[in-house]
Amino acid sequence: MKLVFATNNQHKLEEVSAILGNSIELLSLKDINCDTDIPETADTLEGNALLKAQYIYNNFGINCFADDTGLEIEALNNEPGVYSARYAGENKNPEANMLKVLDNLREKENRKARFRTVIALILNGKEYLFEGIINGKITNSKQGSAGFGYDPIFMPEGYNETFAELGNNIKNKISHRALAINKLSDFLKTI
Ligand code: IMP
Repeated sequence: MKLVFATNNQHKLEEVSAILGNSIELLSLKDINCDTDIPETADTLEGNALLKAQYIYNNFGINCFADDTGLEIEALNNEPGVYSARYAGENKNPEANMLKVLDNLREKENRKARFRTVIALILNGKEYLFEGIINGKITNSKQGSAGFGYDPIFMPEGYNETFAELGNNIKNKISHRALAINKLSDFLKTI
């Protein structure tokens, strides 16, 4: 079966195709000649994932899925959430984003946080949502250099190192995205 993953992020494509295996022919936006910066204007992860998937389905008529991820911090009313990429400004600077989180949590004892990924799949016109969550906490300072985004300040539950210290091998087995992709993969095996 052919399935478009509405991304051009090579890292995500490799991660997803490793989990989905050979039964799915995974296509990127580039593969279908889509160079539009698909708007992510919804105020929820579900809304944004659906917007991206619907854009592809409506304009290209191919079964597809899209993902959206946010870091939800309990003491900050689940911020930055859907605004994780641009928390400290439109230039999407990960360093500035992490500093803003650390600053906003400076006086807070509750450091509980979670990463949440939502995948929206559109298959023959029907919409499905899959969610992956990993609980953890925000450290007091940056630790480690692997990964991307908020990895240096997120320590998953049950570990004494941040995602950036654990490295991609461990992270990709336990992460929010891996959990959501596994649910998608299990679903695709049933159809
Ligand atoms: P996206 O929906 O995957 O593009 O993620 C939105 C933003 O959330 C990214 O720009 C990152 O700041 C953050 N993010 C998403 N996934 C991760 C992750 O696995 N580690 C750290 N930060 C992440």
